[in-house]
Amino acid sequence: MRQIALALLTGLTIASTTGAVGEPAKPYEPGLVEYMMTVQTHHTKLWLAGNARNWDLADYQLDELKELMEDIAKRIPVYKDVPVGSMIEAVSMSNIGDIEVAIKARNPKGFASAFDKLTAACNACHVTAKRAFIVVQRPATSPFPNQSFAPKRK
Ligand code: HEC
Repeated sequence: MRQIALALLTGLTIASTTGAVGEPAKPYEPGLVEYMMTVQTHHTKLWLAGNARNWDLADYQLDELKELMEDIAKRIPVYKDVPVGSMIEAVSMSNIGDIEVAIKARNPKGFASAFDKLTAACNACHVTAKRAFIVVQRPATSPFPNQSFAPKRK
């Protein structure tokens, strides 16, 4: 029994070590593209929720998007000479603020136009970052068939 436990422990020690012996594994640091894939998900869900007038869900998605953008600005202030941090502060945050106002006012038209402005800011940064081929837009359909975007009846 004691031998088995010892073998397990040794196995665990080996499994948790990568690279040269004695070197601890480096913590995983997502790159900008990994963050952007999550940004894309929140951007999509934000539209689907707001478009369905599910204001609670839209509010939640906007919050998540905002936190994530703040996190990106902090963690990747400069990406390949592009001042990602200051560009997020300068453009995305004011657009996010406008969406916030529209959600609070439960204003579908205001929501749609503020959402489009944010989307334009996303694409403007892609152009600046020499990624003009990355174009985001309003999603026409939901890529999340297992999630309901309809407002809950209270
Ligand atoms: C400050 C600049 C900046 C802003 C603002 C920005 N992006 Fe990006 N985005 C980038 C860069 C740079 C890349 C490419 C990263 C790479 O090549 O590693 C990228 C990549 C992407 C990708 C491609 C991911 C893939 O592999 O398909 C998507 C989708 C995306 N962004 C969505 C968005 C959305 C949605 C917004 C707005 C809510 C946004 N981005 C705002 C700079 C930005």
